[in-house]
Amino acid sequence: MCGIVGYVGERSALEVVMGGLRRLEYRGYDSGGVALIHEGTISSAKKAGKLLNLDAELKANPIADGTTGIGHTRWATHGAPNDRNAHPHLDSTGRIAVVHNGIIENFAALRAELEAAGHEMVSETDTETVAHLLHDELESTDDLAEAVRSVCRRLRGAFTLVICDAQRPDIVIGARRNSPLVVGRGKGENFLGSDVAAFIEYTRDAIELGQDQVVTITRDDVVVTDFFGEPAETKEYHVDWDVSAAEKGGFDWFMLKEIDEQPQAVADTLLGRHSIDGLLQLDEMRLSDDELREVDKVIVVAAGTSFYAAMVAKYAIEHWTRIPCEVELASEFRYRDPILDRSTLVVTISQSGETMDTLMAIRYARQQRARVLSICNTNGSTIPRESDAVIYTHAGPEVAVASTKGFLAQVTACYLLALYFAQIKGVKYGDEIASIIGELEKTPTGIQRMLDEADQVRKLAAELSGSRSILFLGRHVGYPVALEGALKLKELAYIHAEGFAAGELKHGPIAVIEEGLPVFVIVPPRGRDQLQEKTVSNIQEIRARGARTIVLAEDGDDDVVPYSDHLIRLPRVPTLLQPLVATVPLQIFASEFASQLGHDVDQPRNLAKSVTVE
Ligand code: M6R
Repeated sequence: MCGIVGYVGERSALEVVMGGLRRLEYRGYDSGGVALIHEGTISSAKKAGKLLNLDAELKANPIADGTTGIGHTRWATHGAPNDRNAHPHLDSTGRIAVVHNGIIENFAALRAELEAAGHEMVSETDTETVAHLLHDELESTDDLAEAVRSVCRRLRGAFTLVICDAQRPDIVIGARRNSPLVVGRGKGENFLGSDVAAFIEYTRDAIELGQDQVVTITRDDVVVTDFFGEPAETKEYHVDWDVSAAEKGGFDWFMLKEIDEQPQAVADTLLGRHSIDGLLQLDEMRLSDDELREVDKVIVVAAGTSFYAAMVAKYAIEHWTRIPCEVELASEFRYRDPILDRSTLVVTISQSGETMDTLMAIRYARQQRARVLSICNTNGSTIPRESDAVIYTHAGPEVAVASTKGFLAQVTACYLLALYFAQIKGVKYGDEIASIIGELEKTPTGIQRMLDEADQVRKLAAELSGSRSILFLGRHVGYPVALEGALKLKELAYIHAEGFAAGELKHGPIAVIEEGLPVFVIVPPRGRDQLQEKTVSNIQEIRARGARTIVLAEDGDDDVVPYSDHLIRLPRVPTLLQPLVATVPLQIFASEFASQLGHDVDQPRNLAKSVTVE
């Protein structure tokens, strides 16, 4: 939540900072602002709403440019999303400018103290207190980094701060606790950003910052210390995607581009997982096979769409490995006193690697001595750094707020993890594992087919775009797919959408079915388990009560034909793998539905891409 950029170099800081903010806007779009150092003064502009408003403001009232600057795009926490509360915030002399991501929990006490000492606050934000605290610190030291460290030691909560000082034109300071910040290393220039997208146009060399660290960037140097001024360890890495991956590439929306990239995202996540002897290998696994053999319980923890990937993981892990597996919402996990010990493996799933609820679950689990393995899409983010092991999904950067390719890549990684467990625990023969991997490797072709057949889904979305309520039903792994279909529609179209386990409908929710209500039903592949037959019965039950049924069923399943008002065909895949193909039409439906309503598909109201508050 909130995107932050800092720059010191020789280019136009305004151009670099605004470019970075545009690529970070998915992190929050309640307001935008910049502060630049120009001839010993700060020139700044800020505006409520999307960056387009800030662009217009800068056009109408241009500000003096410089070669050092900071910028911010906001997801509001303290204070309404208006011009006054937009960042950067300045101290009362206008010398220090601060941008911030996170929540300073003790800000009320700090504000009261500052006001009692005569400081006048102009905003309702927690951030402004930092500018005033720095002003006071700088009365007793000339060292800006030391002043920042001293202020950081007084702050509680989560914060990334990026600061510039008109009297030190070639320095930008960053500090982080619990919220993300990475450094971009250039030649004769250096960058700070909430994530690498902020500076990917200029450099792919990045430095991960750790917890409670302060970084000073100048044109030629990057110095990192802890909050007490001791030199700190950092990790350098090279970003494996370039600026084109963070651009729309001819699509109207990032979401459409990301939906389209799904065959590749799944293929790339599967790539290179075989060793020469045919065994499955997970390169980034930092837990030994012996440690994994000790695991007698898995708890998968995640939020939002990633939670639905976790639900799929439970089916795969229990079915393929017979290890008991629980699934838990990250925001609930640590508050219910879960039973954890050294033989529990907590698996977290996060596209961004920054979700605060998930991060807090990891810290809690590790305190209880459990081992933590993360499935994550973002190299250099906090969650993999704080985990004992990580499996990276290789979906590339996901910019649209609504997760699509991130989800399919997560589900793929969950299958890999489950199969890896099956291999090391010896509960499946090698050829059984190889055969499932073979099926997985075919799924990009099935996903591509769903993309090629998207027109019927778009037409349906246009037809149904007047609906105010839509339901989604599924059984087994079709249940999380139903939940994901409903979440996509809620977040993009702002209508009532709900997912149910198809068998649960008769226990109450069936009462909401009325004439013409659109209901999507994901029908499991036909097999020995009667899941398909039971689901067909559920379709009949709702249709008899007037529902308009939109049925997703595999090729050749003719049982559903008499009960389908619309039929979307899915390629034949094993039951457990069906989410990889069945989710795609639901994503396309939601994006088209939202477009029909004239909504911003990439930046839905009230949301932000990475949720770094609890
Ligand atoms: O980055 P994460 O995967 O940890 O994010 C979790 C959720 O915030 C995220 O999936 C959210 O639900 C998306 N907007 C769904 O499209």
